[in-house]
Amino acid sequence: MQRTFANLISQAKQAAQNAYVPYSKFKVGACALFESGNTYIGCNVENSSYGLSLCAERNALSNAIVEGEKSKLIAIAIVSENMPECSPCGACRQWIYEFSQEAKIILEKQDKTIISFDIKELLPNAFLI
Ligand code: THU
Repeated sequence: MQRTFANLISQAKQAAQNAYVPYSKFKVGACALFESGNTYIGCNVENSSYGLSLCAERNALSNAIVEGEKSKLIAIAIVSENMPECSPCGACRQWIYEFSQEAKIILEKQDKTIISFDIKELLPNAFLI
């Protein structure tokens, strides 16, 4: 599993390179792994109307949906060269929870070790219809 997580981190780093961040200069990349074995990447995409900016995690999850992914989300890695252990924002936590209540959140620490959290830890008492 550690090797899988390292691979997701590496793909997320690749994705972050394409981040469109003229305003914050804060590049984020994400890579989502589904039960099918498929992975989907995303980067943040900002807008001059700041509030319309899209986070890397939601971009990756949207890519999965547009590609027709139907299986359960297993894990999502998130990275930013600007911040070790770049944790998902509240909106992205809710998005992750939508695709699995058991998803793992994979982050890289400053010393390059990989840590994981359960979405339920990061979004307790979540809303779900
Ligand atoms: N950002 C993400 O892409 N994911 C997060 O979970 C937190 C924030 C982006 C949004 C914005 O483009 C930049 O990071 C600074 O907030």
